[in-house]
Amino acid sequence: MRITPNAHLEDLKTGKFLSIVGNNYKFFSLITDLSLEVSHPDILLFPPSQEETLLTNALKQKDMYATANLKPMLMLGKDNTPKPVKTIPPHFASVYEADNKDIALIFGDEKEPTKKFFNIGCPLDMTTPVCLNLEKLTERSNGIFGKTGTGKTFLTRLILAGLIKNEKAVNVIFDMHSEYGLQARKEGKDQSFVKGLKTLFPSKVVIFSLDPASTRRRGGNPDVELTLSYQSIHVEDILSLQQELNLHATAFEAAHLVAARYKKDWLQVLLAQGETLKEFAQEIGAHPESIAALYRKLKRIERLPFFKSHAGGAYKQSSVIEQMMEYIDKGIHIIIEFGNFTSSFVYLLIANIITRRIHAQYIQKTEKFLGSQQKQDEPKKLMITIEEAHKFLNPQAARQTIFGIIAREMRKYYVSLLIVDQRPSGIDSEIISQIGTKVVAQLNDDKDIQAVLTGISNATNLRSILATLDSKKQVLLLGHAMTMPVVIQTREYDEKFYKAMGTQVTAKQIDEFIEEIF
Ligand SMILES: Nc1ncnc2c1ncn2[C@@H]1O[C@H](COP(=O)(O)OP(=O)(O)OP(=O)(O)O)[C@@H](O)[C@H]1O
Ligand SMILES: [Mg+2]
Repeated sequence: MRITPNAHLEDLKTGKFLSIVGNNYKFFSLITDLSLEVSHPDILLFPPSQEETLLTNALKQKDMYATANLKPMLMLGKDNTPKPVKTIPPHFASVYEADNKDIALIFGDEKEPTKKFFNIGCPLDMTTPVCLNLEKLTERSNGIFGKTGTGKTFLTRLILAGLIKNEKAVNVIFDMHSEYGLQARKEGKDQSFVKGLKTLFPSKVVIFSLDPASTRRRGGNPDVELTLSYQSIHVEDILSLQQELNLHATAFEAAHLVAARYKKDWLQVLLAQGETLKEFAQEIGAHPESIAALYRKLKRIERLPFFKSHAGGAYKQSSVIEQMMEYIDKGIHIIIEFGNFTSSFVYLLIANIITRRIHAQYIQKTEKFLGSQQKQDEPKKLMITIEEAHKFLNPQAARQTIFGIIAREMRKYYVSLLIVDQRPSGIDSEIISQIGTKVVAQLNDDKDIQAVLTGISNATNLRSILATLDSKKQVLLLGHAMTMPVVIQTREYDEKFYKAMGTQVTAKQIDEFIEEIF
């Protein structure tokens, strides 16, 4: 695009959303790059001085100009249906800022009664909201990426609020830093707090806490205190800790040997050794050093107060997962708070144990539904949110652990992931290319930028847009739930947002209510 001489050049930014009006189509495009041009190299050799305004003005008419590179992402025919771009507009077609009607047409309108669309922010320098298609979002696993402090957690909370309000999926959130439930700190001069999801939707969200004392200190009572039995830890759960614990593959073989002999009690039996480790290794036919390493590394589990031994009273083993499933069946969302247990070790272990078991339940539910084909048996869509996702989905872990399985099976069993991560290059590339919708904030590392763009057709153009994002509250949205890639200024998480999330009673609901009474 050639920019007219009287345009305010500095108002044009990369990532800006424009429409090129051709004869039969409108081409919706993003600015990917801007540059200054001259018609003859002599102008650069002998530029006009500050005083030579007449010369400057004359040159500006034709010989000095600026151009913007536009990448058409979508075209709209006369029938207003969006199509992939397969042609180009003619020479000298005019370019405009996309208007409000265009944006609503492309990205959907939040006011639509299907409650499919959720306002997530506005295109750069515009005030019309861009909507995320929540139904499409829940059809795949999704990712939110960006370096630290770019607003990933805020945006995740925003999207989760949309899913909760519009009831498009049930969420299980592994909340490592206690930022989703009650309240979260907002950086800035005033150090204020923002409301969490439990505070916004008290009847739709429950908190399971590993550290109830910490939850209470923050002014809320956990709905459930989370305790697990040693028997709930399977060898697969330890597999995902391989990197974290720096364990050798032979240690896992040893673990499998213990489990083959002692089944569910394998961990308790192992941890009860000590002096007798050598004989124990002999007894099960494992390498003594592997058993010793395994024992040493796993001994720290005994210091975690939320693991209860089976022998210690009337503790019912599967109760926590049963409780979770009851909530999920009712459409109630679960936040798992870790309180002061913020080590990756605990986070990985707990997230694996719980997810593996919920997933197993979902397989049963899905099979039941496939058998009966009754609408009431259809499981509710479930979305599991994890932070620091590269720890779960690095190439090594992704092959073996439950999170890799879920990401790869593409919600065959109604379960998908929402992964939040600052190091996407650490995630297995096959998994990244399976991700449906990506929300990408600023990333500085080239490897990370390359990783988020794997499997995307316009990668080179989007790369230049990614490189110029602001360091906060600006993201590139692309993928399954978006009609076209777009850069947005994210929606502010503030009083206005809380109000929008408030459960407003509709006239129809009041009518139904009155009918019910009489
Ligand atoms: N949508 C938003 N509305 C209001 N404030 C926001 C928004 N997004 C980001 N912020 C501000 O940016 C700060 C950092 O955001 P956030 O904690 O979400 O970053 P992050 O990417 O999750 O960082 P980390 O990787 O360290 O967890 C917030 O404390 C808040 O002040
Ligand atoms: Mg965060």
